Amino acid sequence: MLDIQKLLAEMTVEEKCSLLQGKNDWYTVPVERLGIPSVMVSDGPHGLRKQDDSKENPGMNEAITAVCFPAGAGTACSFDRSLLEELGGLLADECQAEHVGVLLGPAANIKRSPLCGRNFEYYSEDPVLSGEIAAAWIRGLQRKGVGCSLKHFAANNQETLRMCVNETIPERPLREIYLANFERAVTRGKPWTMMCSYNKINGTYSSENSWLLTDVLRKEWGFDGLVMTDWGACNDHVAGIKSGLELEMPRAGDDDDAIAAQAVRDGRISMEELDRAAGRVLQLVDRVLEGRKEGMVFDREAHHRKSREMAREAMVLLKNDNELLPLARGGKVAFIGAFAENPRYQGGGSSHITSSRELCALEAGADYAEIIYARGFDLTAAEPDAGLIAEAVQAAREADSAVLFLGLPDERESEGYDRTTLALPENQNALVEAVLAAQPNTAVVLHNGAPVVLPWADRVPAILEAYLGGQACGGAVADLLFGEANPCAKLAETFPLRLEDTPCYLDFPGDGGKATYSEGIWVGYRYYDKRSMPVCFPFGHGLSYTTFEYSNLTLSTDTLEKGEITVSVDVTNTGKRAGKEIVQFYVHPLAPQVSRPVRELKEFAKVALESGETKTVTVTLTPRDFAYWETGIHGWYAEPGEYLVEAAASSRDIRLEKKLTVVNRPLPVPVSGDMPYGEAMKIPGAEKILDSFLKDAQSIAGLASDQLGESGKAMMEAMLRELPLHSCCSFTPVTRETVAKAVEALQKLPQA
Ligand code: GLC
Repeated sequence: MLDIQKLLAEMTVEEKCSLLQGKNDWYTVPVERLGIPSVMVSDGPHGLRKQDDSKENPGMNEAITAVCFPAGAGTACSFDRSLLEELGGLLADECQAEHVGVLLGPAANIKRSPLCGRNFEYYSEDPVLSGEIAAAWIRGLQRKGVGCSLKHFAANNQETLRMCVNETIPERPLREIYLANFERAVTRGKPWTMMCSYNKINGTYSSENSWLLTDVLRKEWGFDGLVMTDWGACNDHVAGIKSGLELEMPRAGDDDDAIAAQAVRDGRISMEELDRAAGRVLQLVDRVLEGRKEGMVFDREAHHRKSREMAREAMVLLKNDNELLPLARGGKVAFIGAFAENPRYQGGGSSHITSSRELCALEAGADYAEIIYARGFDLTAAEPDAGLIAEAVQAAREADSAVLFLGLPDERESEGYDRTTLALPENQNALVEAVLAAQPNTAVVLHNGAPVVLPWADRVPAILEAYLGGQACGGAVADLLFGEANPCAKLAETFPLRLEDTPCYLDFPGDGGKATYSEGIWVGYRYYDKRSMPVCFPFGHGLSYTTFEYSNLTLSTDTLEKGEITVSVDVTNTGKRAGKEIVQFYVHPLAPQVSRPVRELKEFAKVALESGETKTVTVTLTPRDFAYWETGIHGWYAEPGEYLVEAAASSRDIRLEKKLTVVNRPLPVPVSGDMPYGEAMKIPGAEKILDSFLKDAQSIAGLASDQLGESGKAMMEAMLRELPLHSCCSFTPVTRETVAKAVEALQKLPQA
């Protein structure tokens, strides 16, 4: 559609510079002289929040009517790539109908702390799940001609001081956790655009971090699209353009155009850099024009029904003692809690949708049973209300069973600020205790965007985590409560027992705009498993109204050096009703030489089974799935050795395991005077070079054992093993010159 090179040749410097920031909050700049149109971008990941720009100066929060789908925290629990692709497609239809060219999502930052106010929008604590879910959403949207903006690149893991916080993140966790999800989404989703994050990483704003935006994103991962800022994230327009940023949003005023043009005239921005940036804006405009489907209409009610279906697949049955659920239809059921009537189904901030309609559980439940309603608590209060509780207890007593609708009121979690507690409001906890005492057949439904502490979890027989389930969430909850649908989702994040147990408790959200990721790679289940800590509900956990058995775990080979291995497992529905099972595949190193998680999710699959049916689930793994980020080589390295490949129903419900040997060259060992003697001796041929040290060292060790006994010998050998070569002069009669010559000779030795 656009001849980009021709246009670049015809454009003036000023015209090219004008493209490098928005026209306003939501549009790119047109160049009418050359027939370059403006395109519109709009939020958000679970529904179209398009400002109604027919009005003068539309406010930030005015948005047209759209369908609100379940938020990311829930859809990630579906572990279902096809569901996310379908969601992307539905959102694309709504964007096409509204002439929106780019939808600002998916939001895929890792859940470092459950306190993060934005976690309702994000997917997981695990980079593989987060990256796969994001990639699927991208494919579904872009396949229908609408661009995405994968956000927020990178490490936007808190809302506190998000626009200026400097995060100190060591290389390994940065690569293995906070970039790995984006790497997977970029390489498997091929996003048209990325949105850089507000924060600094190791001292540099993401909006002007050339290592991040060019070296990693483009040179390593092959990203070929455009990078825009988060709204207001640009710190230095010129530095941004030189780093691989193309579009500053929203418009920061004419001076940034002039600043860029002056920088070109000064030579601080080369014509090549300017054409590269302007060319990427033109490429985006071209992709949007290519993808546009004029006259698109869609069935809003059909989208509403889809939202209900997706919500069913995104709600996690955490507990179901004595098979309390599903409830019998036609009985008398007490629905207690304000969320039964006013469900909280989305979060606050840029993703907030003007929903086309809302379906609450009270309305939907009436299709299944006689519902008695009691509000139970006041959404705007925290203190228990004795009158409301008394009404609720009365309703619970009169009914065959009770369902409590609890969760986090709007102001408890939102974009823009973090939570300071994982607790539910006290008036809700008090209500649980009172109702449970009156009605043992009580289930709890939770409406929250991130984990909450559940002090009564071991006493309430059934708990359904509904997350923020979109505008039809009440229908999905009713469908699941009464068995119209069988729950199949599994947690994409750990529910801890206490806030104090969380991995970054001591460092979140940091002090004075400085966040130190001192927990390293120990995020989510990686942390709790490594420390064998109890949790309320583990990553990957979720129940069904039926049961499943795993059998016949098979690897296509028991040795992996390059290429890939096929892993398959049979799953049987051993219960009485149809259901879907999410099978998780973890990799578990048996004797790692570096500190590694107990297990890491590397693949997953969802399988639908009729009662009694068996199907084989097959996935493939590659050496990269066994690798960690080795800072010595600044790259991925799969340690040679033995691993277990595990087929699991959750990170703490490992059903089957098979041993696999990974073959790989040993790491090149950096040889220097710092090198411990024991490491040096592992280099083939080293002993003859170190012979002079050897004899002296052995004589010292021998002396020690004469004088100090075996323990003395062991101590001396351990000391010697870890003695840096340069320190040998202090404990053996070799000279510094001898050591230097030995190091030189060792450096010349070929390593295996
Ligand atoms: C917000 C959000 C971002 C959103 C953008 C536009 O600050 O961080 O996710 O897309 O601004 O509303």
